[in-house]
Amino acid sequence: MGKAEKNQIINDFKNHVSYGKAATFKEYGMEFIIGERRGAYITDISGKKTLINCHSNGGVFNLGHRNPEVIDAMIKATENFDIGNHHLISSQRAALGKKLAELMPGDLNYSVFGVSGGEAVDLALKLAKGYTKRNNIVSLKGGYHGHTGLAMATGDAQYRTPFGENSSAYKQVAFGDLDAARKAITPETAAFIMETIPATLGIAIPEKKYLQELRKHCAETGTLFIIDEVQCGLGRTGKLWAFEHFDIIPDMVVLGKGLSGGIYPITATVLREPIETFFHKNPFIHVSTFGGSEIGCEVALKVLEKSAAPEFLHHVNQISEYLGQGYERLQKKHKKYIAGFRQLGLMSGIVFHEEKHGPLFTKAAYDCGMFALYANNDKRVCQLLPPLIITKEQVDEIIDKIDKAIGKLKFYSAAYRVKESMSNIFRK
Ligand SMILES: Cc1ncc(COP(=O)(O)O)c(C=O)c1O
Repeated sequence: MGKAEKNQIINDFKNHVSYGKAATFKEYGMEFIIGERRGAYITDISGKKTLINCHSNGGVFNLGHRNPEVIDAMIKATENFDIGNHHLISSQRAALGKKLAELMPGDLNYSVFGVSGGEAVDLALKLAKGYTKRNNIVSLKGGYHGHTGLAMATGDAQYRTPFGENSSAYKQVAFGDLDAARKAITPETAAFIMETIPATLGIAIPEKKYLQELRKHCAETGTLFIIDEVQCGLGRTGKLWAFEHFDIIPDMVVLGKGLSGGIYPITATVLREPIETFFHKNPFIHVSTFGGSEIGCEVALKVLEKSAAPEFLHHVNQISEYLGQGYERLQKKHKKYIAGFRQLGLMSGIVFHEEKHGPLFTKAAYDCGMFALYANNDKRVCQLLPPLIITKEQVDEIIDKIDKAIGKLKFYSAAYRVKESMSNIFRK
């Protein structure tokens, strides 16, 4: 595609979709429009720039871009099925619900399907309130569960204050502070929600004891423990579910992103059996027209078949170990910039000494041919979530690009002047 055609797309986007996004990417010199996409790579529509995708849209592309088996499953599904009707019994939803129950521990036996992660979190919180007949919700500072109603209410002020006041029923506590959590979670709390590994907080990996004590305290106070595995589930950490590393069983588990195979949006809120009884009196009290679309169910079944396979998880673990070795070499070489790496499987992030280096690294990595996004709630960290299907050669490529990008940080740091807005970062 020629320059004029590409500029036309950018202008149409700027004039009819988002002026602000178009302006931001222009300012950063990151006017990338995804054209061809395959496996771990995305190529600009001009064909002139290719990036190795180390963000994977937060796990949407766990199985790579345009995974052929997932596409086949979707095409096959379209030969016989469509969205279906959410009022009726559905064989596809039944099959997906049964598969999830088989793959989840304990009595996490029921699933409610949705379209977005925010919707699935909203349902979990709504149900917690209905089931416990309590109103209060506790979440983590820096945690992120979506931009919809109840999910947004659990998030940081920066995402919600522009839209009005938050209900006083929502409280946040600091990650890792068990005493604060114990104080905030009381017999009046409906639910405590956290990601097993908070991604937007910079891939913050909790201590095993922290999660286990939280689980225990929730049980003691009758508070439902909701685990958000929208990013960290489906093999990302080397186990099918990240919470398995911590030997806990939550009351509800929220799944999204990767369940779609990057092809058809579908999410799930998985519930323990007693919680599902809330719906017995009124099974139609929660509906989602597109949630659990029958085509989406077929796609998700294929995703689960692939992600739960022992050889797939073995690959994730082996490749993670290899990636970790590369991280160790980088840390030794770039001590001046890198404070450390955080990693559980292929859920990983670089921690820089300085806050400005997370965003600057995103730009430097882009210039070196890698897409990696800094963590918005801890900007010292740049998240690294490559597709789970990456090869050893691609890990070598990632390590090489990180190395080169850190080399560029020196230049960007010199050019950097702190201003209020991120959009001023690259102005001299
Ligand atoms: C951990 C987590 N939970 C929930 C969500 C919300 O998902 P969605 O954007 O599909 O509504 C996200 C989105 O990034 C997320 O990262």
